[in-house]
Amino acid sequence: MCGIIGYIGKGNAGSIILEGLKKLEYRGYDSAGIAVLGENGLEIKKEAGKLAEIEKKHDFSSMKGSLGIGHTRWATHGIPNDVNAHPHADCTGNIVLVHNGIIENYSELKERLKKKGHTFASDTDSEVIAHLIEEQIDSGADTKEAIRKTLLEIDGSYALAILRKGENKVYAVRKSSPLIIGVGKGEMFVASDVPAILEHTREVIYVNDGELVELLADGCSIEEAKTGKKVIRKSVKVDWSADMARKDGYEHFMLKEIMEQHTSLRNTLNAEVKQASELIKRMPNILVVACGSSFHAGLVFKSAVQKHMKKRCDAVLGSEFAYGTIVDKDTVVVAISQSGETADTLTAVREAKKRGAKVIGVTNVVGSSLSRESDATVYIAAGPEISVVATKTFTSQIAVLLKLAYTASGKTTELSEMKDLADTIEKILSKREEIEILAKKLVKEKDFFFIGRGNSYPVAMEGALKLKEITYLHAEAYAGGELKHGPLSLLESGIPVIAIAPSDESISKMRGNIKECTARKAKIIALSDDVDVLKEAEAGFSFAMPKMKGDFAPMLYIIPLQLLAYYMAVLQKKDPDKPRNLAKSVTVE
Ligand code: BG6
Repeated sequence: MCGIIGYIGKGNAGSIILEGLKKLEYRGYDSAGIAVLGENGLEIKKEAGKLAEIEKKHDFSSMKGSLGIGHTRWATHGIPNDVNAHPHADCTGNIVLVHNGIIENYSELKERLKKKGHTFASDTDSEVIAHLIEEQIDSGADTKEAIRKTLLEIDGSYALAILRKGENKVYAVRKSSPLIIGVGKGEMFVASDVPAILEHTREVIYVNDGELVELLADGCSIEEAKTGKKVIRKSVKVDWSADMARKDGYEHFMLKEIMEQHTSLRNTLNAEVKQASELIKRMPNILVVACGSSFHAGLVFKSAVQKHMKKRCDAVLGSEFAYGTIVDKDTVVVAISQSGETADTLTAVREAKKRGAKVIGVTNVVGSSLSRESDATVYIAAGPEISVVATKTFTSQIAVLLKLAYTASGKTTELSEMKDLADTIEKILSKREEIEILAKKLVKEKDFFFIGRGNSYPVAMEGALKLKEITYLHAEAYAGGELKHGPLSLLESGIPVIAIAPSDESISKMRGNIKECTARKAKIIALSDDVDVLKEAEAGFSFAMPKMKGDFAPMLYIIPLQLLAYYMAVLQKKDPDKPRNLAKSVTVE
């Protein structure tokens, strides 16, 4: 997944686009580039590396012009290097574009174009598009017609921003990859996501699949790419501010987003779940579909539905949906995706709908593809999450999913008990120094085990994922009772075992599992409100948790694990906001 942006207006396009790209770097950060059309014609500056490094070598503000496009990359086709960085041009250099997505039939198109004499500078799929547009223009089409005809030839996903020398406008189009228009005063933007334009405007138009945009400084026109039919769409005001997309004095977005979980959760608890709760009440079968951290939140929802609604609920990874998942008109799919753009989840949703299923989308992004393709949408309202690793959106997902299960099962007491959660979170966050000390003690370790039973098993998974994502250390999560069926053979003296042990119905068996580990001289790091478990922990390696309802434990026990991963990454001088090889949400399958 990449981040694209286009700008036309009176400002210095080079610097405005650079600042916008910085707000999109969570989408990919292995190379970047900007093209500006101005006094010096069509100028391109691009390079491999993170923007902060590239910015030192290139003075983007010197690119004189008020019209431009920019890109920050997460490589799919062609390694991250200078030539594969975007923007890409055609043979003449008159057509320049940036692309987010994958062109599945690019290699046969490339072969055909090569036979016609085109020369390619990069190994990317994206560059093919520029040459296809060139072909159409050579055969007499105007730019829009050339783009329209090119779209008919390419298969795959795309959000594109295109410039043509001599034309004072930006063209943009999308299919599957997200694209928004930012409506400014005397200036206009296109971008992959809202944070890129918040410094300039909060007026946003969401572009639908198959729509072609022509951006001028004083407005834009939208039409269906296939038919040319005009589309009139009003802008909406987003309730995110530029501040929300800033670090507020924290060193990293991840720490800021961890430390604001009591606030984000308060917002989340106001979420509207009525329509969705009617659906899960009415539909015989419930199936959770999600990826990454969202899947772990989905597992907590699965057990809440079974416990409170006494209804079967299955959960499947988005990327595994295609392999034998049973879905029909009696199924409601609960698709969980903070970005609302993860391709694996969206593909599963589209397939499920084809088979007659209903879809509830649980997302953090208003106007995202998932929200527009769902029968009912529940917004977690956690605010923009910039760090690649999910933290506040994970706790907000669990909170809104519990609210959904309680509302559907008429559990009013539980619903009212949720309102004290934010205060409890604040108490846990206030003890972050303890976790920082713990991180210092563990930073030299190479292998980690996370164990939990029942609702704490998904927490163990999420805790291990956080550590893997940003410290690149080996971490495994196991259901506490599963160790003796194999993984126990891996335990040696001193290996850290992080035990997630709230005093719920699983505590007595969990005590036994912890003893199995201490018997092999493992180093127990205990998160618990149970005195026996805390005693079992290695001296100085326990974190006392407040007593709480079993359902709520996942939202609260994950917080010390988020902080542990964060502090260990920082101690290892790794960037927790932009871990290697990852992206905020992956819009390609
Ligand atoms: C990954 C992110 O790309 O996608 C994870 O790095 C995230 O943090 C996962 O959990 C799923 O994303 P989403 O947006 O569908 O919840």
